Amino acid sequence: MLTIIVGTNRRDSVSQYVAVQYSEILREKGIANVIFNLHDLPHDFIKSALYENVGKNVEFNKVRALMNESRKFIFVIPEYNGSFPGVLKAFIDGLDRSKALADKKSALVGISSGDQGAGIALSHFTDILSYCGTNVLAYRVRIPKIDEVMTDNKIIDKVLLSKIHKQAQKIIDF
Ligand SMILES: Cc1cc2nc3c(=O)[nH]c(=O)nc-3n(C[C@H](O)[C@H](O)[C@H](O)COP(=O)(O)O)c2cc1C
Repeated sequence: MLTIIVGTNRRDSVSQYVAVQYSEILREKGIANVIFNLHDLPHDFIKSALYENVGKNVEFNKVRALMNESRKFIFVIPEYNGSFPGVLKAFIDGLDRSKALADKKSALVGISSGDQGAGIALSHFTDILSYCGTNVLAYRVRIPKIDEVMTDNKIIDKVLLSKIHKQAQKIIDF
């Protein structure tokens, strides 16, 4: 099972549309996948599902189960204040890393309105995944100036599309 994580809980995020595009490309390649959007986390999970409350939030437990069952991930990560969104770290902190992340495989996609394409965010997040035992695909896709490359919520730029297809194939083969 491959799960695509939308790495922000912002409503109407651009990241969710990029996730949908990856999902469709994987399906075209015959790979079943699901999308989990951090927007769908229980709104109070920071209080009700972390630390001494681990395991007590039924809805968050369903997401933990999804993560535990998944063998591969694609994280779509928007650049927020020079790094990745804080909610993504809180989400990771609510998982059982030995079951959810260790010895799994991940691909990273970074998006930004500026010209970095979340490069630093992806590096920060790679450090965390490495600590948690996840093998991170070396081929990362960065999509800077996202507002200029999307039409009707889809990326149509040929160079970017070719990178996305290449990465999708690489995470399949990883
Ligand atoms: C809280 C916040 C911080 C942001 N910080 C940056 C930033 O540091 N650099 C940048 O290029 N874009 C920044 N952005 C813009 C996002 O990278 C941009 O909107 C991105 O396309 C997609 O984010 P989304 O998935 O939330 O729509 C920020 C957006 C938000 C909401």
